[in-house]
Amino acid sequence: MKKVYFDNNATTPLYDELKLNLLEWLDLWGNPSSVHWAGQSIKGRIRDARQALAKFLNVSPLEIIFTSGGSESNSTVIRTILEIIEGSDSQFAKTNKNEFITTTVEHPSLKKAFEMLEARGFKVHRIGFSSQGEFDLSAFEKVLSDKTALISVMFVNNETGLILPLKEIVEKAKKFGALVHSDSVQAFGKIKIDLQDLGVDFASFSGHKFYAMKGTGVLFAKKSVPLSPLVFGGGQERSRRGGTENSLGILSMGFMAEKMSDDSFFQDKNKHVKNLRDYFEQRIQTEIEQVQINHESMDRVSGTSSVVLKDVEGEALLMALDVKGFAVSTGSACSSGSSQPSASLQAFGLSPEQARSTLRVSFGWYNTIKEIDSFLNELKVVTARLRKLAGPREVFLSSEINNREGISEL
Ligand SMILES: Cc1ncc(COP(=O)(O)O)c(C=O)c1O
Repeated sequence: MKKVYFDNNATTPLYDELKLNLLEWLDLWGNPSSVHWAGQSIKGRIRDARQALAKFLNVSPLEIIFTSGGSESNSTVIRTILEIIEGSDSQFAKTNKNEFITTTVEHPSLKKAFEMLEARGFKVHRIGFSSQGEFDLSAFEKVLSDKTALISVMFVNNETGLILPLKEIVEKAKKFGALVHSDSVQAFGKIKIDLQDLGVDFASFSGHKFYAMKGTGVLFAKKSVPLSPLVFGGGQERSRRGGTENSLGILSMGFMAEKMSDDSFFQDKNKHVKNLRDYFEQRIQTEIEQVQINHESMDRVSGTSSVVLKDVEGEALLMALDVKGFAVSTGSACSSGSSQPSASLQAFGLSPEQARSTLRVSFGWYNTIKEIDSFLNELKVVTARLRKLAGPREVFLSSEINNREGISEL
């Protein structure tokens, strides 16, 4: 059976050309902090990777901190702000800046961090969206004040591909002296990111979302803002992130940034992915009844298609497609044996039923039109079957789900 991977928002495969370098990189096993030849042989390569990432994001290499991924980058920002607020002689303490603004659709690494802040007594404002997917700028302006310490908004939503008006948000925030962080994990490689132009103070990225390795990420922190380490250690990353560097992971991210800095490469890859998405959406809308594409008319990244298939249980659909070799994702996160409709999709105005019936197809560089053709053939059959078998489906679903614990929002 041919396996087809349409879940590139969850993670991407390694880039082919990158794989060819892995054997050579494995020989760079020295500790970059060592002054002898073994350490120095990798140290320079890490510096090059940092430069490549800084150039791609249009910032200084000194503003790039290597982390273990998006979740760590996000957590480091929250910890930093907490330290600033709680530090008694800090500028924030003097100006009484102790409120936070975020959105209703952030990744769990931020969602949970904000819940922690609330539990500690801080005011957190969560801004929502219209049913079409427009960020509620007027609600944002209402809560924005001199008391705002940090605003954290994702750049691109992982479920629908929606692009948030980050630059506008930053412009408004700066009038009140608030710091701005953006979880830009789903933006890297999909849209051009010029961090200087955007004006954010912090931004998070994750290697495994842009064809690099897992367990490696980037935190951008503006030179002018303080940063408190989340991981204490031996002075690595200019004492902003302790622990011996994940050299291979860092090299893989630098490699991808170098590749994507070539404009024609970047455009070609994104054009390919957009063609796939447009082809899929055009066909699904004409060939399957009662489908709705989330955020279809909004500004969104080219490879994500979030589709509501009315009266189709998403988890059952996912499993039926998996059996046939198709890897996709749904609008419900399943954990501890129960299927919960995605909170983010509901925050975008979908009913729990619509969220449960949502299929997320995220295309990547290695997908082809032929794969979409065979996927649609299967999707038509499974959709018809599940719509017909509305009753017995529930029984099948709960027993299957109990065997699939620990799936989280990606
Ligand atoms: C928007 C967003 N932020 C953060 C993360 C977490 O990144 P990582 O898996 O590198 O911790 C993800 C990954 O699913 C994501 O989609």
